Amino acid sequence: MIQVVVTESYDASCAYVADMICKLVNEKPACKLGLATGGTPVPMYKKLIEANQAGKVDFSAVRTVNLDEYCGIPGTHDQSYRYFMNTNLFDHINIDKANTYVAQGMGDPAANAAELEAKVYEGGVADLQLLGIGNNGHIAFNEASDTLHATAHIEHLTESTINANARFFARKEDVPTTAITMGMGDILAAKCVVLIATGLAKTEAIRGLVMSDEITTHNPSTMLKMHPNAVVVIDKELAEAVGYKG
Ligand code: GLP
Repeated sequence: MIQVVVTESYDASCAYVADMICKLVNEKPACKLGLATGGTPVPMYKKLIEANQAGKVDFSAVRTVNLDEYCGIPGTHDQSYRYFMNTNLFDHINIDKANTYVAQGMGDPAANAAELEAKVYEGGVADLQLLGIGNNGHIAFNEASDTLHATAHIEHLTESTINANARFFARKEDVPTTAITMGMGDILAAKCVVLIATGLAKTEAIRGLVMSDEITTHNPSTMLKMHPNAVVVIDKELAEAVGYKG
């Protein structure tokens, strides 16, 4: 069941989600967070950094597992998701990096997928899984398709995703064409799932998610409707575009 939260602005959405995370960490200092990349959560991560530096939240006992990683680029590459997490969050808060996990994009894909799958469940599932959403409704790198995968696996990225992510690379040809990702079952296993979306490019994907109870593999986010505790945070601009009235 989806709870939809409509905020005044993207900044307010980020503040709402940052508050949820701070509250969770304050109540359960050794909690496990599932984290996401993409442009959308960046200002939310800034708010977590500010809260940590202001002494309002302590990440020293927190464990994290990230949703996904590109294949074929090392964690030192400035477009890898390991690098993204370090520079947008981990380098600026008092987390122990040994307690953070981002899947390996290099090496044996099957072994890397098995390792990611094990990390999803190690010490218990995530207390909160943060999500963004792709323009085509993908979550993590589970692409819109006739079939989806339950467990961690390697995914061939669609043209839509490669085009959307090309803005971060010098050339479109540099965007990796495969990625390692948590599967749908891994995401749905989290105790609470929080998806944040903004921007009109997300209109169709969010419409499918919040305007009906239909579930389709062609909009993977719709599977969140089967989760008992899923929260979708959108700003009023996106809510209006979608036609969501509450
Ligand atoms: C990538 C990530 C997703 C993310 C999506 C949207 O494909 N694998 O986890 O949700 O991009 O990113 P953005 O927030 O930049 O629109």
